[in-house]
Amino acid sequence: MTQFFQVGVIGAGARSHELMAALMQHQGAEIVAVVDAYRGRLERALDRVQGRAKAYKTYQDILAQKSIDAVLVVTPDHWHRKLVLEAIAAGKDVYCEKPLTYRTSDGLEIIQAARAAKRIVQVGSQGMSSQTQRKAKEMIRAGKLGKVTIIRAAYNRNTASGAWIYPIPPDASPQTVDWEMFLGPAPKRPFSLERFFRWRCYEDYSGGIATDLSVRLCTTIHFLMDAKAPAKAMALGQLYRWKESRDAGIPDTLNAILEYPEGFVVNLSSTFNNQTSAEGSFQILRHRGHPHPGRRHGLLPGDGRGR
Ligand SMILES: NC(=O)c1ccc[n+]([C@@H]2O[C@H](COP(=O)([O-])OP(=O)(O)OC[C@H]3O[C@@H](n4cnc5c(N)ncnc54)[C@H](O)[C@@H]3O)[C@@H](O)[C@H]2O)c1
Repeated sequence: MTQFFQVGVIGAGARSHELMAALMQHQGAEIVAVVDAYRGRLERALDRVQGRAKAYKTYQDILAQKSIDAVLVVTPDHWHRKLVLEAIAAGKDVYCEKPLTYRTSDGLEIIQAARAAKRIVQVGSQGMSSQTQRKAKEMIRAGKLGKVTIIRAAYNRNTASGAWIYPIPPDASPQTVDWEMFLGPAPKRPFSLERFFRWRCYEDYSGGIATDLSVRLCTTIHFLMDAKAPAKAMALGQLYRWKESRDAGIPDTLNAILEYPEGFVVNLSSTFNNQTSAEGSFQILRHRGHPHPGRRHGLLPGDGRGR
């Protein structure tokens, strides 16, 4: 009899549907359990997996299921630490969406727990598996770009949905949305569909541009440059335009300078007020012209990845 790797899905929103579609292409894995805090998404998830998965009332019920080997954690960011740690404690392997952490200290706890329990914890940051970025890494390692001293990276958008003002489904209400399930470890607040569907606009659940978008840029840069963490960092954020829709601490424009001990500097510059460059773009300033012979100082465009 064929043995399937049994997978439970915690959170069945926008990203989760992409992951479920990808996982369903995998011959050896089967999605057997799904939980979500909004009924519409749970029903759509069950439709997607064509009746093979069961709906669960809580994530704890999924973790208690011994036959489940691994879980996908695809909830808002404020839940990641708790869910990943509890999944590890329940003996599951975990795929958690980026950003793994809501606070820096979460990461150290998760690494320790995964090592101690010998569980796999994979973080969804697809730039690292892109062929273009692998090629760029090989070129940098082989010294083909000479010495890389500056990388500029940006995530620019100029639409309401780009600024996370997502549409709210007409059937969403306290009857179809489990507000307590959404809040979890976050501070208690009155029911709010804006908070539920546009959680990236609120500090209780997200770090905004830094944790939602810069994390992708930095993960790629660390991968390309074999770097672990900057030695120095400074940043300035400002909320210029989308003021009505979010906390004051969630800027729509963020500029940061990160200095690395490996001897290079990163300029991160992202805004929701203009889209002159591609969403998620990189410029690697190198001292040698290859692969554009004849140019002494060149730029290597990267392949950023949108949602
Ligand atoms: N790797 C990528 O390219 C990529 C792209 C988009 C989003 N993401 C990440 O995926 C995660 C989810 O983002 P999204 O855009 O899908 O958000 P979303 O709001 O569309 O979906 C989140 C879902 O989690 C559910 N949820 C909340 N608390 C829950 C709980 N306790 N138990 C079960 N379900 C719960 C909500 O009901 C919602 O349906 C975020 O961490 C985000 O950063 C990654």
